[in-house]
Amino acid sequence: MSNDTPAPTSDRPFALVTGASSGIGLELARQLAGRGHDLLITAEVPLDDRVEELAALGAEVHTFVADLRTGTGVESLYAATVALGRPLAVVALNAGIGRGGAFVDNSLDDELDVIRLNVLGTVHLAKLVLDDMVLANTGRVLVTSSIASELPGPFMTVYNASKSFVQSFTEALQSELAETDVVITALMPGPTDTAFFARAGMDDTLMGEGPQDDPAEVARQGLDALMAGKAKVAASSPGPKASALVAGVLPDKVKALLNKVAAKPRDEG
Ligand SMILES: NC(=O)c1ccc[n+]([C@@H]2O[C@H](COP(=O)([O-])OP(=O)(O)OC[C@H]3O[C@@H](n4cnc5c(N)ncnc54)[C@H](OP(=O)(O)O)[C@@H]3O)[C@@H](O)[C@H]2O)c1
Repeated sequence: MSNDTPAPTSDRPFALVTGASSGIGLELARQLAGRGHDLLITAEVPLDDRVEELAALGAEVHTFVADLRTGTGVESLYAATVALGRPLAVVALNAGIGRGGAFVDNSLDDELDVIRLNVLGTVHLAKLVLDDMVLANTGRVLVTSSIASELPGPFMTVYNASKSFVQSFTEALQSELAETDVVITALMPGPTDTAFFARAGMDDTLMGEGPQDDPAEVARQGLDALMAGKAKVAASSPGPKASALVAGVLPDKVKALLNKVAAKPRDEG
């Protein structure tokens, strides 16, 4: 389907998934469809080739192309959602990118893109969908944060900082909205087997080459937590779960050193 998708007729709950072209977002879309939701899926690239697969799971599927680094992209996505005339039961604020390498060597624009998408795009879309959900006093928002939010991130400096922002933002909203029936859950994956590391230029790092979780299992744990009304979930294997636990007690300098070893490009020596 295109950006001028006609209005649907289904009465199934309706879910919006950002970053649905691959990785965790695609798995969230698949599993939301499997759990009885209709979908609006979005990415920078057209997603028409995903419609057949998701529709086979019983979902009415709409797609929308938007660059969520920009305010125009976020507003156009929200307008497309409103035009469908269906209240959002679930929103997965999942689109995100990383940038590996030394901050002083990287292009400023690449680093700012991480903030534009992970921080500005997430806050902007959250504002639009949460206003509606709070008014209706119903809805569930799954925010893809990261275990990286818990530690300073040498060699992925701006990425970790962006996820610290996202995690703090999510937990603050949980408190603000505690008296409502709106649920907000932080999904905190550890290293996960998606296009993330290649896109971030981090294939030549211990983290990029090391053990990584299955994005389907990460998505499953995220949706289970969302539907159970949990505040956050470290997904999916024991490694990230243990990291989340020890992050609370390790000194920041030690956490930074651990990240430095894991994220340092090999050619940095
Ligand atoms: N993989 C990990 O180890 C890991 C760990 C913790 C947290 N996370 C988080 O998980 C989320 C999903 O990442 P992933 O691991 O599944 O990686 P991925 O496979 O690279 O997926 C990233 C998604 O974000 C979309 N996206 C990128 N730039 C965009 C833009 N400017 N506008 C709109 N959409 C854009 C991509 O769409 P296009 O293909 O159209 O660009 C893609 O659908 C991210 O927030 C990431 O930070 C990942």
